Amino acid sequence: MARYTSVARALHWIIAVLIVGNLFFGFAHEALPKDWAVMPVHKSIGLTVLVLTLLRIIWRLTHRAPALPAAMPLWEKGAAHATHFIFYALMLILPLSGWIMSSAGPRPLNWFFLFDVPKFGVAKGDAIVGLSRGAHELLPWLWVALILLHVGAALRHHFMLKDDVLRRML
Ligand code: HEM
Ligand code: HEM
Repeated sequence: MARYTSVARALHWIIAVLIVGNLFFGFAHEALPKDWAVMPVHKSIGLTVLVLTLLRIIWRLTHRAPALPAAMPLWEKGAAHATHFIFYALMLILPLSGWIMSSAGPRPLNWFFLFDVPKFGVAKGDAIVGLSRGAHELLPWLWVALILLHVGAALRHHFMLKDDVLRRML
């Protein structure tokens, strides 16, 4: 069975856990106690996703992914590739938009309270800040929908079609 490399598998699962955690912290932050370090941790996790995604993209461009099963209809292969491409875009746009948005705010920006992270030279009222805010509010919903589709497809391949698509990512 052709599998993803161990690096690709490790990055897939680490990033997936971080993203699900950050979607949760993001959506729940207003309901969570204010004295928690919820938002600083949210920002740190998001910045970690950004760095790991850059590494993952470099790895992906230099290491071939195993081909999808030959029997898979063309439209399904297209849907899988389109979803994966959108995931890579979201893994870059979501953290970047958060970083831009936070750069315009008064709070310090750091990585798990260990070291300061530089801010972009933007201010409240800049078009890019408004755009980032809009993206950061809307795109998580698109992501949740696509993750459900992605997980549903993986489980369908494993339990119904009984092929190797899930196993080669485990
Ligand atoms: C994987 C990366 C990320 C995901 C999935 C994510 C997701 C979310 C979600 C779902 C929300 C709630 C949006 C809403 O109010 O409806 C949120 C809010 C927020 N995020 Fe992120 N985020 C990520 C990265 C970041 C980063 C890197 C930063 C900053 C460096 C950041 C800063 C913020 C801030 C400040 C808010 C609060 C916005 C507000 O309520 O005014 N996020 N995020
Ligand atoms: C929740 C966040 C997740 C994200 C952002 C994500 C993202 C991705 C991306 C970008 C790929 C394409 C890899 C490539 O470059 O070829 C991929 C592949 C894959 N993912 Fe996920 N994933 C997530 C969760 C999951 C979960 C929970 C499962 C299993 C239930 C799963 C199963 C798979 C499988 C089986 C593949 C390989 C598909 C193929 O061979 O074409 N993923 N994922």
